[in-house]
Amino acid sequence: MTTDSQLIDRFGRRVTYVRMSVTDRCDFRCVYCMSEDMQFLPRAQILTLEELATLGRAFTELGVDKIRITGGEPLVRSNVMTLFQSLGALPGLRELVMTTNGSQLPRYAESLRRAGVRRLNISLDSLDPDRFHRITRTGKLAKVLEGIEAAREAGFDRIKINTVAMKNRNDDEILDLVDFVVARGLDISFIEEMPLGEIDDHDRAEVYMSSDEVRERISTRYSLVPSTATTGGPSRYFKVSGTDSKVGFISPHSHNFCESCNRVRVTTEGRLLLCLGQEHSVDLRRVLRAHPGELEPVKQAIRDAMAIKPKGHDFNLAAKPVIMRHMNMTGG
Ligand code: GTP
Ligand code: 5AD
Ligand code: SF4
Repeated sequence: MTTDSQLIDRFGRRVTYVRMSVTDRCDFRCVYCMSEDMQFLPRAQILTLEELATLGRAFTELGVDKIRITGGEPLVRSNVMTLFQSLGALPGLRELVMTTNGSQLPRYAESLRRAGVRRLNISLDSLDPDRFHRITRTGKLAKVLEGIEAAREAGFDRIKINTVAMKNRNDDEILDLVDFVVARGLDISFIEEMPLGEIDDHDRAEVYMSSDEVRERISTRYSLVPSTATTGGPSRYFKVSGTDSKVGFISPHSHNFCESCNRVRVTTEGRLLLCLGQEHSVDLRRVLRAHPGELEPVKQAIRDAMAIKPKGHDFNLAAKPVIMRHMNMTGG
């Protein structure tokens, strides 16, 4: 394997991390992520598993050492395990990780671990079954809790829970969710909702809950010690004193983190997205389909794309969303 170049953008940021969305479909319809009547992409428009594997190879040959598989819900894509197996075998890949809603983990946790996935991020916004169902519109809490247990039994290095903190929706459960992870030796990140795509459930500015408010709430029960742990990403981590758990805060509104951004994304349709909060992108599907099975053309397209990685996002909860794509196209 050759790492024949590195991906460095105009601002000197090194891209070593790619997030690949393998499907826009999901068995849930979380209120902050989707509208109630989502239209999903026709099959021909989404990258095939072979194309995704080729991209994984191209990126690692360009110095990328971490790939996160996202969705929609990655585990609803048929035969997705073959993709994990090919990516897991790539030389040069230090970390293969996945973000999931957890509902299919009872079935897949073991095979994922065997394919080389070392860490999992699992979404969980409430521990109350009715409320969980209301936030996900279709989800069953018991299934996700079972999925978390299956992941613990499969022996992943770390499991992190993701919670989108929303005022008057789940903010009264912040301490319960921290208790839940502490009791199980897991980590948790609280996320400020981002204005991606139009949603019909709530006004995002109204339910906005800043990470500082969440942190104050947690500090009434736990002592949080700032940690130097970083994924080069948006989360600021704190160790929960006297436990094995970390609490992270992903605060796109209250603490900007774009200057240290190390990541790009591939959307379900094969668009290389240079920033989650902007539209700058390059159509890699076109390059892949014009040169089937070839690595060099797509590698060159990725290198060239570094010139258009924007400085950062301009999220504004008070305005109508500027980015019309919903989160299920990128998995965050
Ligand atoms: P790492 O990938 O290991 O850093 O974990 P993560 O917590 O970033 O990944 P995960 O897929 O669990 O995403 C959690 C939240 O972070 C989601 O809401 C993502 O949209 C958000 N997020 C991840 N990367 C970025 C980013 O570069 N910019 C912004 N604004 N949000 C991000
Ligand atoms: N803002 C912030 N986080 C979101 N997620 C989905 N949509 C949004 C949004 N609009 C979260 C999910 C999941 C992660 C990939 O992104 O809860 O944990
Ligand atoms: Fe599905 Fe995740 Fe979106 Fe919820 S946030 S609808 S689980 S893709």
